Amino acid sequence: TLLFKETPYLHTAETMITYCIEDQILFPCDIFSTHVAVENLFSDEAGFDITEDFQGYYAAIIHPHRRYVRTLLEAVKDLEIRMIAPSHGFVIREDIRKYIEMYATLSRETTQGKKATIVYTTIKNSTKKMAKIIQDCLQENNIETEVWDADKSSATDILNSITSADAVFIGSSTKYADMIGNLENILKELHNMNLEGKLAAAFGSYGWSGEAIEVIQDYLNGTNMTVQSTSEVIKSTGMTHVEFPVRIRFSPKEPEKVQKIKNAAEFVSDLLLSSF
Ligand SMILES: Cc1cc2nc3c(=O)[nH]c(=O)nc-3n(C[C@H](O)[C@H](O)[C@H](O)COP(=O)(O)O)c2cc1C
Repeated sequence: TLLFKETPYLHTAETMITYCIEDQILFPCDIFSTHVAVENLFSDEAGFDITEDFQGYYAAIIHPHRRYVRTLLEAVKDLEIRMIAPSHGFVIREDIRKYIEMYATLSRETTQGKKATIVYTTIKNSTKKMAKIIQDCLQENNIETEVWDADKSSATDILNSITSADAVFIGSSTKYADMIGNLENILKELHNMNLEGKLAAAFGSYGWSGEAIEVIQDYLNGTNMTVQSTSEVIKSTGMTHVEFPVRIRFSPKEPEKVQKIKNAAEFVSDLLLSSF
């Protein structure tokens, strides 16, 4: 008798695990895999400790999706597992709970407080609404967040906030193919600051082309922050549902637009909260 449980994004959207009730075997797809395999099927016959390989596989394939490891841990919590038979590497039949516990430990979030700063300019508040969605999402993930309208706040206050932040989101809507308001002055200042170790992301609402968002991205790329880009997300995690910069046509009203903004904010949260 096979029991199926959905464990999405570990490591693709459609992933589910299968449990054979009579034999108590878990078939978890790529979860709990190792890269290396020798002729022997079982980890206890490998002739070496598989922990390093097991953790290496976790780091490379599963860790980018660690938010969903919580779903997995919940799914396997009450299962009596005698054997784990993943799609790669060794079949595990000893110390089962030790390996599950390793996933719990490695995916745990840091308890150090993290801070984000969001700066935006807007004509009719669509970019402001985007900033609010980012803020709410970060705060739900326990990241302290400050939000600044660059046209209503002092540049000094904004720059101080950026200096003390771990992640910086900068957004503007597009008017006549460029950013609006005071934002450019702030961005120019960033080039003279040492912002090493901070994460940065660009966002904005636009009508048809959204040049401002790309100009912000260019400015951020000129700083020494780690700037998020779709290309880097795909190359480092294989995720295709997270896009940077975050471009939203007109107001972020529709659920799919809100989701797109949340995906980006959650991705940055997860980077900030990673404990290893
Ligand atoms: C005067 C004016 C000029 C605009 N120029 C552009 C443009 O060059 N490219 C573009 O993609 N959108 C352009 N737009 C559309 C705005 O970027 C779009 O309405 C956006 O949703 C506004 O967001 P906001 O409410 O955050 O300002 C323009 C809008 C106005 C009113």
